[in-house]
Amino acid sequence: MKKIRVLSGMRPTGKLHLGHLLGAIKNWKSLQSQDKYECFFFMADWHALSTAYRHSEHIAQNTIEVALDYMASGLDPEKCTFYVHSHVPQIAELFILYAMITPTAWVTRVPSYKGQIQELGEDIDTYGFLGYPVLMACDIVAFRAERVPVGKDQVPHLELTREMVRRFHFIFGKEIFPEPEALLTETPLVPGLDARKMSKSYDNAIYISDEPDVIQKKIKTFFTDPEKIHMGDPGHPEGCPVFFFQKIYNVDIAPEIEKDCKAGKLGCVACKKKLSESIIKDLAPIQEKRRELASRPEYIKEILMSGAEVARGVAEETLVLAREAVHLL
Ligand code: TRP
Repeated sequence: MKKIRVLSGMRPTGKLHLGHLLGAIKNWKSLQSQDKYECFFFMADWHALSTAYRHSEHIAQNTIEVALDYMASGLDPEKCTFYVHSHVPQIAELFILYAMITPTAWVTRVPSYKGQIQELGEDIDTYGFLGYPVLMACDIVAFRAERVPVGKDQVPHLELTREMVRRFHFIFGKEIFPEPEALLTETPLVPGLDARKMSKSYDNAIYISDEPDVIQKKIKTFFTDPEKIHMGDPGHPEGCPVFFFQKIYNVDIAPEIEKDCKAGKLGCVACKKKLSESIIKDLAPIQEKRRELASRPEYIKEILMSGAEVARGVAEETLVLAREAVHLL
């Protein structure tokens, strides 16, 4: 039976946090272990370069950190193809072909584009960043991937990808790319220490590689229900970010925590202590594996090299079709 090809990637901007672990990696792990899927996961270093070109000296190390986080969290190079974006030049070649047929309005109108320039500053008002959605489309179609596990925020990019595929087929008269569909991650947005979305740029994240004492300290600062000041005050676990994590890390006692919090029997300090303990315990084997992997840099490089070789092979098959469709000599 032909497998369904799945592809996703992440920009290596630094170490990964619980938002990545619970939002994306958990989902990717379940996909890689299902027989019907053939998975490709990559570290999008070219995309990182599009916003962080002034600090490109960190990109290689960040790429390694992300690879360590991925593998320590259970992404298995035996079960998926795991590679670095810039190791697959066929993607860049396809990007040139797609760039020729992408109307400028399609990229300038991407809703996140102007917002991001406002957020990140004029520095990213570059030709490369403008082309980000086109490159992202090529990341997917170079592998003729059919499913793309991403968060809701990426859905407009996938819609654009489908439109670009249709345009390519229409202009060159040959159907070579499947129209990819998003596989939405079920986890709702993971809240950070200040209750906003967990994100490196908000400085509110708990990292996969944080030491136990760091985790404890961070969790003590967690935003909780502002109406619960004293232990005896009744709390509102529904909107409380600590309770969000209790439901994941203390599933079995979450109903009890909820009841006791509402009844004013459980204070935030004790509640947070239970949470730190469980998160630390859950991360321990991941961190152990991460340390072990980090001590074998040659092995990591080998994995990335062999992943890239497989990826180049698959992308080259697509490019043979694409060059022919475009009538290049
Ligand atoms: N744009 C995605 C993000 O910011 C990362 C990404 C780049 C991606 N290329 C991709 C995700 C291809 C899925 C498929 O998270």
